[in-house]
Amino acid sequence: RAVTMDKVVALCKRRGFVFQSSEIYGGLASTYDYAHYGVLLKQNVKQEWWRAVLQERDDMVALDAAILMHPRVWEASGHLEGFTDPLVQCLGKCKKRWREDELRAQQLGSEHAEGEIVCPECGGKLTEPRQFNLMFKTHMGPVEEEAAVVYLRPETAQGIFVNFRNVLQFARRKPPFGIAQVGKAFRNEITPGNFIFRTREFEQMEIEFFVPPAEAEQWHRYWMDERLAWYQRLGIRPQHLRLRAHGPDELSHYSSATSDIEYLFPMGWAELEGIANRGDYDLRRHAEFSGEKLEYVDTATGERYIPHVIEPSAGADRALLAFLVDAYDEEEVEGRKRTVLRLHPRLAPIKLAVLPLVSREGMPERARRIYEELRSAFFCEYDEGGSIGRRYRRQDEIGTPWCATVDGQTLEDDTVTLRDRDSLEQVRIPASRLRAEIERRLAE
Ligand code: GAP
Repeated sequence: RAVTMDKVVALCKRRGFVFQSSEIYGGLASTYDYAHYGVLLKQNVKQEWWRAVLQERDDMVALDAAILMHPRVWEASGHLEGFTDPLVQCLGKCKKRWREDELRAQQLGSEHAEGEIVCPECGGKLTEPRQFNLMFKTHMGPVEEEAAVVYLRPETAQGIFVNFRNVLQFARRKPPFGIAQVGKAFRNEITPGNFIFRTREFEQMEIEFFVPPAEAEQWHRYWMDERLAWYQRLGIRPQHLRLRAHGPDELSHYSSATSDIEYLFPMGWAELEGIANRGDYDLRRHAEFSGEKLEYVDTATGERYIPHVIEPSAGADRALLAFLVDAYDEEEVEGRKRTVLRLHPRLAPIKLAVLPLVSREGMPERARRIYEELRSAFFCEYDEGGSIGRRYRRQDEIGTPWCATVDGQTLEDDTVTLRDRDSLEQVRIPASRLRAEIERRLAE
């Protein structure tokens, strides 16, 4: 593969996808801002997720809960006690902090395999591990006292569990059904890194799927297949995806079984999405802590039970990174190197660029009119600056699947050439058919 993380990071900056946050102040570590094309790409990732999990199903409803929640939520959920990573600090020169479990995994099989692990930076000794809670704390209101402590949510999931009863009341659903949500989550990660792969502020796309207890395993399997197929439908190569079941020592405090969808990132296989069987852990705990009944009652049969929960939980930023990495390609065309993002057309930030061949003879005016007619239907771009070759390259680098070029013949018969990003094939079609043609291709 031609792709490396450095190349993706460079393209993201050069072409306006992702910038380092607060760059003029030297940057805030592992924090990133989305630029124009990044905003559009991320919107499309989320849109395709909503389409698959909500729009094209009838067993899902949407939710958008607040980031700040009652502090008791995090007691009930187990996060106050259990959402920790083992932190070690170097006692040598560099004083860096590390996650002990990650260091151990990395140094396994090396000369330090037995017993002691050392600082990978300077070889120094490390402190004993101490459990470090990953939740960001802040205060609500003007007084910074213990009673005013609130947390930034470390997962969106809890917003779903605490709304379970509210949703049941209006939605007229019975298990199996799900609640889907997209939103920011925050974790004070000890070792963020690999660009937007692991950051302290990120966006999740989560489903809590409530099922009759006896059906939990079957739905767990179903969601693994379903979510794996989603990434593949949107263009990720099957050989770059795999499912990996967690070992017993890896499971989160709430999970009885989890499988990760992993993607082959430039740094190796890593988690893209977790699909957990949370059993009745969350509803049972929230019922206990709130004193409310959180169960499903079938009014016809009188049957009542606490549903079990299957949770496909994806990262929007991480998915975006996987789509970028998988789409990145370099090739030689007529002796010149071109970089191209072979994004699925539905993910591509811009669907069509409308380009006058040259900036004279009425071509810019005709092209601009075509652009203005089409931009209400899908994201288009008009560009007349520089040679046509350079403008094509620019669209290739931002992943625009099609370019329509207005040339001398357009002024005679109102046809344009339509260039395909991947095959570089050009066909001539009437300008009046552009809209239907692009819409047809997007629907494929
Ligand atoms: N509610 C379950 C849950 O939060 P998780 O495996 O901890 O499970 C789910 O997180 C997904 O969220 C991950 O698969 C990943 O895509 C994304 N994610 C988690 N931590 C992240 C971080 N620090 N930066 C970016 N994405 C992250």
